[in-house]
Amino acid sequence: MVNNKAQKNKGKKMKGIILAGGTGSRLWPLTAQTSKQMLPVGGVPMIFHPLNVLIKAGITDILVIVSPEHSGKFMNMLEPLLRSHGINILSGIQEVPAGLPEAFTIGAPFIGSDNVTLILGDNIFQDTNTITNAIRQFKVGGHVFAKEVEDPERFGVATVDNNNVVTNIVEKPEKPESNLAVTGAYIYDNEVIEAARKLKASDRGELEIVDLHNFYLKKGELQLSKLSGAWFDAGTKESLREVDAFAADNNFVDNFDPILVNALEKGFAHNKAMGKAQLLACKDVN
Ligand code: G1P
Repeated sequence: MVNNKAQKNKGKKMKGIILAGGTGSRLWPLTAQTSKQMLPVGGVPMIFHPLNVLIKAGITDILVIVSPEHSGKFMNMLEPLLRSHGINILSGIQEVPAGLPEAFTIGAPFIGSDNVTLILGDNIFQDTNTITNAIRQFKVGGHVFAKEVEDPERFGVATVDNNNVVTNIVEKPEKPESNLAVTGAYIYDNEVIEAARKLKASDRGELEIVDLHNFYLKKGELQLSKLSGAWFDAGTKESLREVDAFAADNNFVDNFDPILVNALEKGFAHNKAMGKAQLLACKDVN
């Protein structure tokens, strides 16, 4: 069955979505004037880190889903920077944050009949290779990435058997069965769109990504890879400070995909030249 589906799935492209909506309320007043995913992490706005994962995996079509008040800012920053490097950036709007699966209903026209990788805009990974390899090798079903943590009750928690096969995933359980947190990077085949459309809101009034994992788990089509290295969910002031320092100390930006390093260097040179030109123009006027 899985093999048949894999055959049908052959030749499909992989699209990328970064979900960068939300109000960033836990980071106020840092987020009073800008979005959480624009805050600095290791010398660049946070969103560059999930963007790097998608570009490193060879994905060239990327949808950035943001809240209405911030949409123009992301497009103004990313689209001109990446256009000449063969990366198409599009923008989608999440009116109110109603749960992560909305990425697939908002993103449905963009995904078309392709597969899709979703990365949460505030998730920063050190072990990008495990994710990018899985994206490149993806055939069918769903694939999630887990990391052992000390506070699993804050996350989706996976239980796996001796062969690393997922037996259970629960969202923020009071008594976690394991310490394996499901991180904010997800690969799904095209069925995720219909599955997301059929979801019902949970008790906390949101669509839950765990229900999508369970959709694939029930069909025996959910894979899990364990991540090495550090993983951060930069949603609080404390974690933001921690990941900012960690990313700087470990040269995350220098190790970005060459496409992104090149785009950032060109962008920097362009802005420097613009600054100089403006200064000269001011001198001429005076
Ligand atoms: C979301 C997901 C959760 C996942 C986490 C990773 O939680 O619902 O399963 O473990 O992202 O960052 P949130 O951060 O939205 O509470």
